[in-house]
Parts: sequence; structure tokens; C-alpha cells
Amino acid sequence: MKVLGIETSCDETAVAVIQDGRIILANLVASQTELHARFGGVVPEVASRAHVQALNPLMDEALERAGCRFADLDGVAVTVGPGLVGALLVGIAAAKAVAFATGADFIGVNHLEGHIYANFIEHGPPEPPYVCLVVSGGHTMLVHMPGAHAYRVLGQTLDDAAGEAFDKIARFMGLGFPGGPALDRLAREGDPSAIAFPRAMIDTGDHDFSFSGLKTAVIRHMKRESAAGRDVDLADLAASFQEAIVDVQVSKTIAAAKELGVKAVLLGGGVVANTRLRERMEKAGAEAGIGVLFPSLKLCTDNAAMIAVAGASRLARGERSPFDVAADPALELA
Ligand code: KG4
Ligand code: ZN
Repeated sequence: MKVLGIETSCDETAVAVIQDGRIILANLVASQTELHARFGGVVPEVASRAHVQALNPLMDEALERAGCRFADLDGVAVTVGPGLVGALLVGIAAAKAVAFATGADFIGVNHLEGHIYANFIEHGPPEPPYVCLVVSGGHTMLVHMPGAHAYRVLGQTLDDAAGEAFDKIARFMGLGFPGGPALDRLAREGDPSAIAFPRAMIDTGDHDFSFSGLKTAVIRHMKRESAAGRDVDLADLAASFQEAIVDVQVSKTIAAAKELGVKAVLLGGGVVANTRLRERMEKAGAEAGIGVLFPSLKLCTDNAAMIAVAGASRLARGERSPFDVAADPALELA
């Protein structure tokens, strides 16, 4: 069974072809990062237009790499939300057209479910239930997942998403956009204990997060140091900021898993590409006797293989989406 996956929720145009639920035949991403970099963030109209330009050639290339034709597709899976509405629409229109023309089964997929299902591409699913930490540019949430495609959101960020905090601090430090990966690299040369930044809500006993206070603390620290005529060691600053944000995520995720008696934690979303988060989660999981899964780097950030895999799993259960399914910019995980 071959499933085409299409993902256009933000600033990556992505197309994948997978076989038998999790074998990747092609997985292509056309990144628009350079287009948006000069604006310091994603410009929705620019993103939509770039998706329109990139999508058809990318689909052709993906099929060629997968060694198949449109007529060979059994299913088409596409991200229907959450994301930028104009960007989502481009992928959805293309997916509907392909499914309608070929007779392939059509399924809309929640982007966040895609990030979670990225874990099952390389590992195959461990025994449920799971606790999932989803950390991306737009989301930070802890989710209880009792079984396939079943979600109960335990808590989420009350303000900035983790990726957003990385990007904002990176921009403030002059590291460009998107700043998460650059900050990660710089932090490797710094001392994570150099500056004691706040770990907001680390022991509130709930499953919510807050990162805006940390962001303010970092900015205030930089301003104070430069007003005093002292040089700020940017690597120490990056490492200390990153440690604070990682500490809270590790601590709250492991606490949720223990509280729910869950033996497997799944990490998903672009921030899971963070070196320190991966190291610390793995260590904390080993200490607590909890298995921690995360996708390889390429499958952490936005891609279409994760959408195809989540969609194929839903199709295998007999689910289909109607052709009038709409883009839902605020789609919830349910
Ligand atoms: O999942 P994703 O690709 O797109 C969304 O669904 O939002 O996540 C993008 C986010 C950005 O904020 C980016 O800075 C962050 O993930 N990110 C990282 C790293 N790689 C990507 N943050 C920290 N360290 C990284 N290595
Ligand atoms: Zn994402």
C-alpha cells in the first residue's frame, strides 16, 4: 500500500511517499527559510505563494524517487491543521485533486499527530499508553495517549511555545531566523550553569508551561550587563537559557509519565531536534525506568513522511475524510 503525504502548514513545502505504513520511499522538503529570513519571521502570504510554486514539481520529484506514478497511490494524506490557513489550503487543494483524480483514499491529518507518529517510522510503536511531549514553533503540550489516535491534552504553554522562545532569544542575540538550531550550536560551547535563569512552573504539580518570564529574564540580563559595560559571553548565555528551558520540559514530562504510570514517552516537534533536550530526556528516562523515544533529526522538524504515516494508520482503520474537509488553523488534538 502506497500513501502520498503532503504538508504545507507553515514554511516548509513537504511531500513524501511511504509504503506499508512506515517504509519511506521518498521524503522531500522544500524549505522557504531564506524567503522569510529577511522579515525575521514567517510571512503568511509569502508562504502560501511559495507553496503554490513548489508543490507540483515536488510531488513529481517525490513520485519519481519513489519509483511510482499517481495511479499507483492507494491513499493521500494531508495536513488540515493547525497552521497558517492560506498555507494549509494549498496542500489540501492539491491532495483533494490527486485523490479525486486517482480514486485513492483521502485522509486529513492533524499536524501535531504527525509529529507524534514520526516516532513510529524508525522504531515501530512500543506498547501503549504513552505520554507525549509536543514542542514546536507554535505548540508546547503534554498529552496522554492511551492508544492509537487517542489523545487527552494534559497541559500546555500559557504563553510562548518552546520553539518560539528559542527563536525570540536567538533573534535578540543576533543569531538570525529561525534561531533554534543556531542557538543549539552556540550553546555547545557554553557553560549551562553560568547564569541561573528561572525555571517557571517546574514544581507547580500541573502540566502547564510558561516561557515568557524566562525570555524576559534573558533580555534583562543582557541589558544589565551591557549597561554595566561588561561583555556577555554569548555561548554561556545560550547554554544557560537552553538549560532552563530543557530542565522544565524534562522534569514535567517525566513527572507526568510517573503520575500516569506510563512506561513510554514520545517526543515530537521541531524543538526535539535540540541536542541538549535529547541528551537530558534520554538520561532522565533511563534513571526513571521509562522508555524515551524521539525521531531522527530530519523527522523532528516539519516533513511529510510523518503526515503520511499518521494518515496511513488512520486509513488502515477504515477512516476517510470527506472531500469538503476544510483547513482548520486552530485544529485541536483529539
Ligand atoms: O515542528 P517545527 O518544524 O514547525 C512547527 O510545527 O512549528 O518546529 C519549528 C521550531 C522552530 O521554533 C525552531 O527554532 C525549533 O523548532 N527548532 C529548534 C531546533 N531545531 C528546530 N529549537 C531548538 N534546538 C534545535 N536544534
Ligand atoms: Zn511542526
